[in-house]
Amino acid sequence: MHVLTVLDHPDPSSFSAAVARQFMAGGKSAGHSVELADLHAEGFDPRWTMEDIAADRGETTPSDVAKEQERIARADAICLVFPLYWWGMPSMMKGWVDRVWSWGWAYDQMDDPEGSLQPSRSGVLLVPAAARSDEVEDAGYLAALDTAWMKGTFGYFGFSPRRLEVLHGSKGSENRRQALLEKSYHVGQTLAPPAPHNVKGSAPGC
Ligand SMILES: Cc1cc2nc3c(=O)[nH]c(=O)nc-3n(C[C@H](O)[C@H](O)[C@H](O)COP(=O)(O)O)c2cc1C
Repeated sequence: MHVLTVLDHPDPSSFSAAVARQFMAGGKSAGHSVELADLHAEGFDPRWTMEDIAADRGETTPSDVAKEQERIARADAICLVFPLYWWGMPSMMKGWVDRVWSWGWAYDQMDDPEGSLQPSRSGVLLVPAAARSDEVEDAGYLAALDTAWMKGTFGYFGFSPRRLEVLHGSKGSENRRQALLEKSYHVGQTLAPPAPHNVKGSAPGC
């Protein structure tokens, strides 16, 4: 498979960047080709502007969005790596999701969360988070993230199967961090192929 990893972190020496590297190394070890979209290093603009509104109305797709869509079109699997910020995505990843997976390209309706215009792609979210797993689960945050992302977002993009791995305790001991990096490698190594999927239509640019 061709695997696209999308990273949101400004610091190449961050834990999130290490997670992305480990995931890609695991993917390579399983014989996949890998590609990295390093959003900060590449200077992606996450702001939703009048250009995006015009594209939403059927006018020209902004060139930076079209470039990201071409990258996605090459991929059989996609991994998003970003730290958990206030129980959500940091702004760069949020803007990339909002702008790139656009109406008319990724989806064209809101009543069927599995109804994407895109072909099926294996999807993984690797999300470093400082909180412990019991904190994340007992307060209902994990269920909330699962609902918002797995149910409310990534089905519309054709991610199937899709997997959310919150990497709890990312600021913990060296042992803990090492275990999370090993897990990231393993997720890359054992990536599931895209599920058979009924594509609603062929998306422009695919
Ligand atoms: C602005 C901000 C918000 C954060 N919000 C959360 C949060 O809601 N839950 C959590 O568990 N950790 C939260 N954290 C901690 C980060 O998810 C954690 O430190 C992560 O490891 C950061 O990634 P890095 O180590 O690659 O920098 C937050 C950190 C920052 C800077």
